Amino acid sequence: MIYLDWNATTKPLPEVAEAMARAAAEAWANPASVHTMGRKAGACVERARAFVAQLFAADLRDVVITSGGTEANNLALRSAFAQGKGNLLTSRLEHPSVTRVAEALEREGKAIVRWLNVREDGLLDVDDVALALQETSDVRLVTVQAVNHETGVIQPVEAVSALAHQKGALVHVDAVQAVSKVDLLPCSADTIAIAAHKFRGPKGIGALVHRPGVRIVAIMCGGSQERGVRPGTVDPVAAAGMASAIEWVNRCGRRQYAAIESQRDALESALLGLAEGALQNGSAKRAPHVSNLYYPRAVGPELVAALDLDGVCVSSGSACSAGTSEPSPVLTAMVGATRASSSVRLSMGETLSAEEIERVVSIFRNVLLRL
Ligand SMILES: Cc1ncc(COP(=O)(O)O)c(C=O)c1O
Repeated sequence: MIYLDWNATTKPLPEVAEAMARAAAEAWANPASVHTMGRKAGACVERARAFVAQLFAADLRDVVITSGGTEANNLALRSAFAQGKGNLLTSRLEHPSVTRVAEALEREGKAIVRWLNVREDGLLDVDDVALALQETSDVRLVTVQAVNHETGVIQPVEAVSALAHQKGALVHVDAVQAVSKVDLLPCSADTIAIAAHKFRGPKGIGALVHRPGVRIVAIMCGGSQERGVRPGTVDPVAAAGMASAIEWVNRCGRRQYAAIESQRDALESALLGLAEGALQNGSAKRAPHVSNLYYPRAVGPELVAALDLDGVCVSSGSACSAGTSEPSPVLTAMVGATRASSSVRLSMGETLSAEEIERVVSIFRNVLLRL
């Protein structure tokens, strides 16, 4: 199989697996326990916290360890509206762990949501952000993701943050697809979500990083872990894996992804040449590893299934909605439902050999002819 679905999840690094095996053998106790064994497990969690803090030049006290990106996004959005109703500016470019929370907050009478315009090139429309901030009083929160999960388009985080902060609004950045792919600093966001499994770490762990003074409010009741903001026992084994993955990001992650760009471009132009009218979705500046391709007359999920049978893993729609045949809400907002229904996403994580690239192109050619 050739795995081209790294935006769904990445393959854990061997060094991550080793760090986790070590922690599983030696640091498996409850990190909140005060005894020696507990302190050993606690040290794994604190080491992970230190690495996350360093990624965003944040203070250790401003890092909340979560179960991943979904929980971090939920925590950020719900915290912003914990103290009464306000306005929320967001867009259909965001992951469901943001858009569905926005919808829920509106249903619960806690937020009034304004859906910002999305441009055909895959960017959030900054002019519409400015207009919305002008027209709406008491904007509590603006959300803008760093890198889009479907197209890889790099979003205008700093421009949006500057506009929002001028009006006293908070800014939440979902950076789940950005770590290891683009520069993260400087980041002027008030809250930032990350997930270790998107940067060669384990599943089930991530973090919410916040600016000092931003109030994070627990969305579950329980113990006093993570300063009471995120009750529940943190897994020291997963924490060891996340720390090891961030070490890799710091050492060579960005360089490795940058090296993929020319291969992605070569593969993309070969794949676009296979069918008349094929187009790339998201023409704005992208992260180096994603290609989202539209094939007129193809049905996205059918294409994914046929490619899978022939040995290539890709996706249509985000990982969370894989298995359903709904067109991607991101692509629908950008280019409409028809084009969204006939598109597939390829996302790379390691360099491919020339032979593998040729094989992917040949499999695509056969599948497109067959369909
Ligand atoms: C942009 C983005 N945000 C959030 C998430 C959710 O992260 P997790 O799977 O860790 O809950 C994903 C997962 O695909 C994502 O792509």
